Amino acid sequence: MQHQSKLPNIETTIFAVMSGLANKYGALNLSQGYPNFDGDQKLFDLVTKAMNSGYNQYAHMYGSPDLRNAIAKKIELIYNTSYNPETEINVTVGATQAIYTIISTFIRQDDEVIVFRPAYDSYIPSIKINGGIPISVQLHAPYFKVDWEEVKQKINSKTKMIIINTPHNPSGTMFSKDDMLQLQELTKNTNIIVLSDEVYEHIIFDGEKHQSACLFPDLKARSFVVSSLGKTFHNTGWKIGYCCAPKDLMDEFKKLHQFTVFSVNHPTQKGIADYMQEPNTYLELSGFFQKKRDLFLDNIKGSLFKFIPSKGTYFQLLNYSEITNENDFDFAKRLIVEHGVASIPPSVFNENKLDQKVLRFCFAKTDDTLIKAGDILSKL
Ligand SMILES: Cc1ncc(COP(=O)(O)O)c(C=O)c1O
Repeated sequence: MQHQSKLPNIETTIFAVMSGLANKYGALNLSQGYPNFDGDQKLFDLVTKAMNSGYNQYAHMYGSPDLRNAIAKKIELIYNTSYNPETEINVTVGATQAIYTIISTFIRQDDEVIVFRPAYDSYIPSIKINGGIPISVQLHAPYFKVDWEEVKQKINSKTKMIIINTPHNPSGTMFSKDDMLQLQELTKNTNIIVLSDEVYEHIIFDGEKHQSACLFPDLKARSFVVSSLGKTFHNTGWKIGYCCAPKDLMDEFKKLHQFTVFSVNHPTQKGIADYMQEPNTYLELSGFFQKKRDLFLDNIKGSLFKFIPSKGTYFQLLNYSEITNENDFDFAKRLIVEHGVASIPPSVFNENKLDQKVLRFCFAKTDDTLIKAGDILSKL
């Protein structure tokens, strides 16, 4: 049978490639962004209780009311702003489905979407499959600061959407209040939709504050804020997330969501809703992961790797230019095969695979794994 690929140049996601190699060579896997430890037993018990209490049929198509209420309460507590749980919050199959559905809902043939690179790897295929044109703004190591003048020059009448990600995977940087104000100013009096990927909103270090798009009224009015309950509660395999947006935008989103996903795993939603009644379940995450970041970096200090400590997310970039001239992909592969540590080469997230001589390490790992990996890396 003959068929013509709709995504001819899209390769297998780097996460599958690197995790596959890590398994093959029995390497410590600091590549893919998920914990190698279990979430809270209390949450498991609540999901089990939900299954045993009859929460096993289709949930409400926009998300179980309990969970939407819990999300609305969380947002009010942290950001002091409100989304109507009836009309402005939708539970999704992970953040990735929210992102895909938002893009599919609004992007038509030849619409332009501004994407900051390095970018989480679902954005560009999701734009392209809908006929959109990704317009890249490349950020540069080590600070990955946005040049808003460049963004301004790339905005034109075809610009339909801007995708931001803060805290940022893979760099571990965050948009400042000034960045958000610049974005707000640039989009004023336009019809540009902002997709704000905030899946790491609860993993912020050194007392900094996460600048959510929902904190800025004009931005909030044009934004989808996306989050991941899988990331937040250490259960990425549950694939559960949500997005929030003003009613007019969300009404459009729902038209597509109801016929692609319809509704999300019910007992998981109920269990998480009950678990979130205790705000410390998400408020304590920053301290938890900051200790892991510091444990990992303590070992690397004094090695040939150079770094700026991650400000948010559970990723740390390490610059290896004093160790080798290899490109990041070759070095990442050699680290697995010869040294038994797996990482991600971020060039795959960059425009034209720009090689910035850095590797991304995930520190959502047990202390034992972090110590072992740090020991190996510090001896290179
Ligand atoms: C920036 C970013 N957005 C979205 C996701 C996907 O989240 P989920 O697993 O909830 O689909 C990830 C996962 O690594 C991510 O890093």
